[in-house]
Amino acid sequence: MTTTKFHPEVYTQALTSQSVSYASPSNIALIKYWGKHGVQIPKNPSISFTLDTCKTTTKLSYVKREKVTDEYELKVILDGKHKPGFEPKIHQFFGRIQSYLPFVKDYVFTIETSNSFPHSSGIASSASGLSALALCLVEMEREMQPEMTLKHFNQKASFIARLGSGSGCRSLEGPLVVWGEHAEIKGSSDLYGVQYPYEIHPVFDNYQDAILLVDKGEKPVSSTVGHNLMHNHAYAASRFEQAVVNLSNLIPILKTGDLDGFVRLVESEALTLHAMMLTSNPYFILMKPNTLHIIDKIWEYRRETGIPVCFTLDAGANVHVLFSDIDKEQIHEFIKNDLSKYCQDNRYIFDSVGSGAIKL
Ligand code: DP6
Repeated sequence: MTTTKFHPEVYTQALTSQSVSYASPSNIALIKYWGKHGVQIPKNPSISFTLDTCKTTTKLSYVKREKVTDEYELKVILDGKHKPGFEPKIHQFFGRIQSYLPFVKDYVFTIETSNSFPHSSGIASSASGLSALALCLVEMEREMQPEMTLKHFNQKASFIARLGSGSGCRSLEGPLVVWGEHAEIKGSSDLYGVQYPYEIHPVFDNYQDAILLVDKGEKPVSSTVGHNLMHNHAYAASRFEQAVVNLSNLIPILKTGDLDGFVRLVESEALTLHAMMLTSNPYFILMKPNTLHIIDKIWEYRRETGIPVCFTLDAGANVHVLFSDIDKEQIHEFIKNDLSKYCQDNRYIFDSVGSGAIKL
C-alpha cells in the first residue's frame, strides 16, 4: 500500500475554469466499516450499495489568491446560506489533502452545496458531501494535468474523499463498491474504493432501499468517536475477522442471487455494528424503540409473505429497508400502511441502487 501515486505530477496546463460542479450520492453499507487507524485506514473491508436519489450537489468556485498564507481561505454555503460551522471540518480536510492537491492553498474557495434529502433527516451527508467536494478538487487537477487517465481520476478522487469521510470513498461509482483490502477482491485497497469486480445476479438490479426516518436528531456519538471506540474494544479482533469472512461469503450470494443468504448476512452485519456500540466503553444505544418495532414488523412480514425483505442500519436509529425491484409495489404498500407510523412525522425516502457520481 503506497500513497506515492497520488502525489501530483507536474501540471502542464493552466487552470482557466472558475468553477466545477458534481453530484455525488450517499451509500449504504452491507458489510460495515467500523474501526479505523492511521489517517482514515479501515480496520476491515466494507462493501456498500451506492444510492441513487439521496445525494449532495456541490459547486466549487475558485479565485486565485493574491497572497498565499498557511491558512486556507474557504466559505461553505448550504442551500444558499453561509454556514461557518461547517468550515473547520473542511479546513481539516484541506490540511489532510494538501500534499496530494497542493493547489488548495493557492485559491479562495466557495463551496455551494445542497442535499437532496432534508438536513434534519438524520441521514449523514458526510459521505455524499465529501465525495462531491473531492471530485470537484480532483477535476481541477485533471484540468491542469489533462493526460490523467479515467482510472487514476477515479482512484484519486476516492482516495481524497476517504481523507474527508471514510465511507465517502465508496460513493463515486456503483452499484457496489468495496473499500479495504481483501484477498478475494481483485484490486481492493485500503486507500480507495473499487467497483465490485465480479458477477452480480440480476435479482440485485435496481435493488431498492427505503430509508425510514425514525429519528432526525443529532447523533449522540459522531462517527469519529464511534470508530475510536473500536480501539481496545474487547471484541474488536473477532469483529474485524468476521467482516473479512462475511465479504468472502457475500461473493457467491451476489453471484447466485441467494436472497435468503443475503438477508441473513446483511441483518447480522447491522446488528453486529450496533452490538459493537452496545459493548464499547463508553457504551451507546443508537436504536430507538421504533427502530425495534420496525425490525419486528419486517421479520413478521417476511415470515408471513416469504418475501426476502431485510433491514440494515447505520450508526443511528433510522432503518434502511432493502428489497428486490420485483417486490417494490408490495413493499411500498407495507411501508406506507404498517411501518410509516414508526417514523418521525411519518417520513421515509424511497431510494434505489445507483451508478455513482456525475459531473454537472
Ligand atoms: C456506520 O464514514 O462516517 O456508516 O471515516 O470518520 O468519516 P469517518 O466515518 P464514516 O463512518 C461510517 C460508518 C457506518 C458504516 C459504513 O458506512 O460502512
